[in-house]
Amino acid sequence: MIFSKEFTQYTQQFPTQEPSCLQELRAIINKHAKHNISVSPPVGAFLSMLLKMTQKRSVFEMGTFYGYSSLWMALAHPNTHVVTCDIENGENINVARKAWQTAGVSDRIEFHASNGLELLTTYTQPTFDMAFIDANKKSSLPAVKTLVQTSLKPNGFIVVDNFFMRGRVLQKDSDLGNTVHFFNTWLTQQKHLHSSVIPIGDGLSLIMRSEAYCSKKQGSNPSKIKSEVARIWAAPFKTL
Ligand SMILES: C[S@@+](CC[C@H](N)C(=O)[O-])C[C@H]1O[C@@H](n2cnc3c(N)ncnc32)[C@H](O)[C@@H]1O
Repeated sequence: MIFSKEFTQYTQQFPTQEPSCLQELRAIINKHAKHNISVSPPVGAFLSMLLKMTQKRSVFEMGTFYGYSSLWMALAHPNTHVVTCDIENGENINVARKAWQTAGVSDRIEFHASNGLELLTTYTQPTFDMAFIDANKKSSLPAVKTLVQTSLKPNGFIVVDNFFMRGRVLQKDSDLGNTVHFFNTWLTQQKHLHSSVIPIGDGLSLIMRSEAYCSKKQGSNPSKIKSEVARIWAAPFKTL
């Protein structure tokens, strides 16, 4: 979508080195009708690489699906711990758990059958070094807000999937495209955040707090955050 067909074909000559446990999981996911909502191998490898490069270990993930991205991140280091959640807790999670077990990381991936926004409000102290937000697109903005205000550690960072929303950000009549476009625009207006776009897969937003924000002493007020999240969640997007 981002590059011409020729560049895509050229890139495909150099496939990502995907561990066999991930190849096996992807083969199962590929039988699912919505298989393309899982991150691609290059994106999984990038998430894992980010954790290796920064030597960060504690991850929050919103949107488990079949556990493919969770597995990439858990494999970054033997001490990586991933908290992941999904509102769907059916066959997808059975398959995910089996794959995590086969890969020997099941004790380091903590699954919650939960709405990620609700789960985040239970972490009232800085807990996570990295967050990967890959759920319903309306949740990306409140998730980033909650993480930045409370549960992200100093020098932590956030990765949000689907910057391009499969091209829909350019279609004015697409609700999904408008939601993601609103989020992308909102992000660039936040003076206390640094963000950058990584144009791999469907595009990733990479987010960290600015130095000015970090130097302020952060207090956490769980009830204030909870009501702020509820307000954002309830408001129609155009009025935010
Ligand atoms: C794009 S898929 C996640 C793919 C996964 N990260 C991967 O790459 O393998 C999105 C998932 O988010 C889940 N989801 C949607 N809204 C959610 C929410 N508010 N909290 C938690 N999970 C949510 C959906 O059920 C779906 O399984």
